[in-house]
Amino acid sequence: MLTGRIGSDLEGFLAAEKNKVHNSLFRFSEWIKKELPARVSRPICYSVMGEGKRLRPILCVMAYRVSGGRLSPDIYDLAASVELIHSYSLMHDDLPCMDDADLRRGRATPHRVYGEEDVLQAGAFLIPAASLWAARALKKFLSNGPLKRKIVRKLNTAAGACGMVGGQYLDLLSEGEILAPKQLENLHRMKTGALLKTSLTMGGMAANAEQELLDNLEEFGHWLGLAFQIKDDLLDATSSTENLGKIPSDKIHSKNTYVSLYGVEGASMMAEEMKNKALDSLSRIDVDDKWLTLLTEYVLDRKK
Ligand code: IPE
Ligand code: IPE
Ligand code: MG
Ligand code: MG
Ligand code: MG
Repeated sequence: MLTGRIGSDLEGFLAAEKNKVHNSLFRFSEWIKKELPARVSRPICYSVMGEGKRLRPILCVMAYRVSGGRLSPDIYDLAASVELIHSYSLMHDDLPCMDDADLRRGRATPHRVYGEEDVLQAGAFLIPAASLWAARALKKFLSNGPLKRKIVRKLNTAAGACGMVGGQYLDLLSEGEILAPKQLENLHRMKTGALLKTSLTMGGMAANAEQELLDNLEEFGHWLGLAFQIKDDLLDATSSTENLGKIPSDKIHSKNTYVSLYGVEGASMMAEEMKNKALDSLSRIDVDDKWLTLLTEYVLDRKK
């Protein structure tokens, strides 16, 4: 975490933003409980309401703001739709057939509480639910039909075969093998980068940003997403269960990570390089917003 006044500024900012995202996720949970049988809605709510950093929705809202959007609970609902996809990705990522994890966000993983079968299904139910939640939010503040569809399509593209799901597939397929640097970058770009980048693009699009601004936000998100996953790899290699709220396991599963390929020092340098590229892209965005800069620093300074 950043230290000094800037650090405490950021902490206060993150706490306030997390709270607004939390409120939206709570609204979602109340809705989904009415829509789905308890067998699947319970694991969904358990996962969604866990203590996450909420970085993706916060980035979405910040991109919306720097693009000139006016803040309201509706934009937090749109941003929460990215968190819903993220939650489903975590539910499935932790299943025994994937990373076989017992702990997430400091407590038992959903399948440890509700069983594999229900969690597998609950995760799948979350995919269309995220799109519906995004569409409901957009309906409240955007009248441009084609733009609304484009935003929901963006979310689904980032979640799908060329994004998160495709990356997770490559991640599993390459366990025990040694990927080439470009292949590993591609894996990280897909499994984690795509959704994080899309959080920013969706925020910009929702504020009707010009193409040039959207391109800059995309480029910023691209580098930030890579830096984020490299930091995740570093934390897995160097931190503890107590700090992380999840059990380090990349080595046990012979995962391809920046640490397995470049070592801790090499991976740290590459994360720093990606962060600087992100800051470079950000400097091309002609707005005076300290929060995106501070969030970029936070991606590498975070302890969990
Ligand atoms: C963990 O994501 C999974 C990755 C894509 C690396 P986060 O580190 O954002 O997890 P939470 O949401 O804060 O728990
Ligand atoms: C997960 O990467 C990426 C996802 C899309 C969920 P990891 O498997 O490294 O994430 P953690 O470390 O379990 O959170
Ligand atoms: Mg994984
Ligand atoms: Mg995992
Ligand atoms: Mg990890």
